[in-house]
Amino acid sequence: MKIAIISKAMVPDASLIDPETTVTMDRELTASTGMDALAHSIEAYVSNASFHLTDLNALDAIRIISRCLPSAVDEPGNMEYREGMMLASLEAGLAFSNASLGLVHAMAHSLGGKLDMAHGEANALLLEHVIEFNYPGATERYHEIARAMGLRGSGPAELIDYIREFRSGIGIDMTLEDLGVGEDDIPELAEASMKDPCIVTNPVRPSIEDVEAIFRRAL
Ligand SMILES: [Fe+2]
Repeated sequence: MKIAIISKAMVPDASLIDPETTVTMDRELTASTGMDALAHSIEAYVSNASFHLTDLNALDAIRIISRCLPSAVDEPGNMEYREGMMLASLEAGLAFSNASLGLVHAMAHSLGGKLDMAHGEANALLLEHVIEFNYPGATERYHEIARAMGLRGSGPAELIDYIREFRSGIGIDMTLEDLGVGEDDIPELAEASMKDPCIVTNPVRPSIEDVEAIFRRAL
């Protein structure tokens, strides 16, 4: 089981945000942690606890990640992209520490507890399916996200296709089934997701059947 530990004792007095410490991350780790940061910013932006200040950080992180992540994966030693990703990761963290997250993380936490799966990979594989489910409940916000990514903001298909191609392009092109999730695991995974605190701030309140259906689509 994977649970979040939240306490003021976990908050550092000072943080050093140094992109040079990230240049030795390999391709997979760069891709999965980058997709995690993207999920943080998207979930914080559509969270029902978002507000003006978290919006500024979240949208800027989305803008930077869409520009820098594929290049950071392809050119691991290029400091321009490492610096971009470090900054975006910080901004996404500021946004979600104040606005919390949503269904992608609720489901990813339950996957991470049951299986030996990289957290960012789990998020990346769920993101497009959760967007599809949430879209009617936060349409304007998803349009803004699409525009921050350089898209037109015309509807769900454009954003969902972009996210799928984006993650596949950086090597996250598997399915949950490839990572060892089976149809039989879904009821237990959905139950754990429903109990995860991140689900509270999702823009749409899902039923357990909804969560099961989203897991099934990502298989
Ligand atoms: Fe995360």
